Parts: sequence; structure tokens; C-alpha cells
Amino acid sequence: MKVSPSVISCKLELLKDQIETSASSGADQFHLDIMDGHFVPNLTMGQDLIAAIRRCTDLPLEAHMMVTNPDKYWKIFSKSGADILMFHYESPVNLKKCFGEVKDSGKKCGLVINPDTPFNIVKDLVGEVEILLIMTVYPGFSGQNFINGMIPKIREARKFIDDNSLETEIEIDGGINDKTCSAAANAGADILVSASYIYNGNIRKNIGHLKNLERTRI
Ligand code: DX5
Ligand code: ZN
Repeated sequence: MKVSPSVISCKLELLKDQIETSASSGADQFHLDIMDGHFVPNLTMGQDLIAAIRRCTDLPLEAHMMVTNPDKYWKIFSKSGADILMFHYESPVNLKKCFGEVKDSGKKCGLVINPDTPFNIVKDLVGEVEILLIMTVYPGFSGQNFINGMIPKIREARKFIDDNSLETEIEIDGGINDKTCSAAANAGADILVSASYIYNGNIRKNIGHLKNLERTRI
């Protein structure tokens, strides 16, 4: 299983150390939770912190843009070093236009869907992005409980992607830990995001646990 640690739960004073430990523990990429206090009721990082993280690792950085105007900000985050620009389906922007612009710039795209957004309505967009990020919590905060009711949605996305021979990867975000990871993996995840589980414990052991998961289709 691929693992994308979310640096939102790193201890800021240890950020470089914790990023390096994560990378040497098998992290495949890093997940940056960017919140504007408007699209979600929380504020996190901006372009300066992204640039600092960029200087700490060569692994891909994915910008999960929980902002009202991702069409305006993606270029700034991209310039700061983000490699994968992830847009919420629920943000009030022209997604097809954004995806086209991101691709033209040479970067990759992600599409994010909130728990209340059915998979069915994003089918036409899935083939246009490298990653489909399915939220298994309501965005805004780390440390929330995994919503089990999202499992059928992950299965539905897996089936659609396989049936249509798409290369889009399915990434799961929210409440992933040693108890919930198998359900997400077995439902069809390719990549797991995790913040509090990884960084509120032994980083090496916890990333190792997620990395070792096999996806058994049932
Ligand atoms: C929620 C964020 C998640 C979150 C994950 O708004 O998108 O990436 O930080 O945190 P955990 O793994 O603690 O649920
Ligand atoms: Zn996230």
C-alpha cells in the first residue's frame, strides 16, 4: 500500500526531522492539508510552509486544497513546490478548466470528494485526474473518526476505475489508523493518508504498518 503522511500532525519544531524519518520509513509522498478558514472552519498552511517542506524532501507533495478559490491559489502552491494539485468537487470553480491548466503546466491533478458527495456524480471527471481522493471524515480537522459508511463508495470507485481500465489511483483521507486501514485497503484503496495515527505515535512503526497492508479484494 502507498502511504501519504499528512504533515498537519507533525510537531512544527521537529518538522524536518519528522519528514526525514517518514521518508526513510517508506512514505511514498506527503499530504499537505491547506485550509483557508472559509471553505473549512480551520486555518493551516500557506505557500511559505509548503516551500519549507519542499526543501526537506524530494518526495512528491500533494496539496489538498480546502480553500474556496483553488483556481486562484493552485499556481502559488505549485510554485512553492506542490507536485499534485487536489481540487474539491464542492469548491465553486470550473474544475475541467483547472485540470487543463494544471496539466498544461506539467503538474498532476487530484479530485477530492466529501462524505456527502456521491461517487456517481463525479464519474465523468475521474478519468481526467491522477488521484481520486475520497474523504472518510468531514474535512477541517485531523484526529476524527473514520466514517465506515464510506466503504461502499470506495468499492464503487474501485469497480468503475477497473471496469473502465483507468489509471486513476484511489486515495483515502481521514481517520486512517491500525484499526481502520484494512477496511479501506480491502475496499480498493491504492494510497492511504494519515496524520494523527502516524505522528502521535512511533512514526517508523506506524508508516511500516500501513505500508505492509496488502489489498485483498472482497
Ligand atoms: C482533514 C484532512 C485530513 C486529516 C487527516 O480535513 O484532509 O488529511 O488531516 O487526519 P487524520 O489522519 O488524523 O484523520
Ligand atoms: Zn487531507
